[in-house]
Amino acid sequence: MRILGIEASCDETAAAIVENGVKILSSVVASSSQMHAASGGVIPEVAARQQVVSILPVVDKALVNAKCQMTNVDSVAITIGPGLIGSLLVGVETAKVLALIFKKPIIPVNHLVAHLYANWLGGGSHIPKFPALALVVSGGHTDLVLMKDHGNLKWIGGTRDDAAGEAFDKCARIIGLPYPGGPAISAKAEGYLNQKPKSLNLFPRPMIHNDNFDWSFSGLKTSVLKYFKTHEDIEKGQIAAEIQEAIVDVLVKKTLRAAGIFKPRSLLLAGGVAANLRLREKFELEIRNLKLDIVFNVPPPSLCTDNAAYISSYAFFNQKPSSLGQIFARPELTIVGQP
Ligand code: KG4
Ligand code: ZN
Repeated sequence: MRILGIEASCDETAAAIVENGVKILSSVVASSSQMHAASGGVIPEVAARQQVVSILPVVDKALVNAKCQMTNVDSVAITIGPGLIGSLLVGVETAKVLALIFKKPIIPVNHLVAHLYANWLGGGSHIPKFPALALVVSGGHTDLVLMKDHGNLKWIGGTRDDAAGEAFDKCARIIGLPYPGGPAISAKAEGYLNQKPKSLNLFPRPMIHNDNFDWSFSGLKTSVLKYFKTHEDIEKGQIAAEIQEAIVDVLVKKTLRAAGIFKPRSLLLAGGVAANLRLREKFELEIRNLKLDIVFNVPPPSLCTDNAAYISSYAFFNQKPSSLGQIFARPELTIVGQP
């Protein structure tokens, strides 16, 4: 089964064709992130307008790259949230029109849960085993969920304020690094750590010892701001490495504490922040140190950040009759899928 996935929830416009939830035939991503660099963050109206410009060429390119046409596609999967309303609207309307014209079922997709399905892409023996513990770390969310099966998810913790990606972005802005802050902090930190690896403990690890699986990152932002005001001459690489380590440390420690309690067979990482090399490395190190009997799944960095391949994969594994039909109030359309 071939599913055309469309993702347009923020500043990326993406389309992909994926076969049977695992084989990527094409995946195209256009981003307006450079347009937001000057403002230090995404301007929703600018992002939505850029979605209008990009969406048809991106869908077209996904079809061409997969050497197929709409007639060879079995269904259309579309992100319906969470996300920026203007961007979402462009994606949903495009998917509805394609589904209507080509008489294809349309599958509504939850963007956050879909991020996890980047771990199914590629297939083979590496696909996650249930029960799985999954950490979604993106620009807007930090959530820990226990996945017993496809469609059987239990939320066990999350951020109480800023998301991990948001913390990277806002701290980067404070220290004068460009948007998106995650890759910028990571690159600066890497340069510094290659020269002089040392212990990093300048900033607090909020809630690290609390008896729950929640996080809080807004206090870290305040600490960075206060420190930077009085130490503006600090090497950028050093402060970047300290910020990164504070975020990574608390994410890894609390997630692995949950793994010790829930004893999942797999640990899944997903979302833009999962592209962070230090986060990936620290998870691997600590899993080994703690001798946890768990398979660690993390997608290649290019599949961690927003794309439509995981939208198609989610749709393949979760297509069930949906009560959300009313949001696509068109009797001509067949609605399947549970967001
Ligand atoms: O999943 P994503 O592409 O979009 C959302 O759904 O939010 O995540 C974007 C976030 C941004 O906050 C960005 O700074 C962060 O992911 N990010 C990173 C890295 N690459 C992207 N954070 C840390 N290290 C990275 N290498
Ligand atoms: Zn995302």
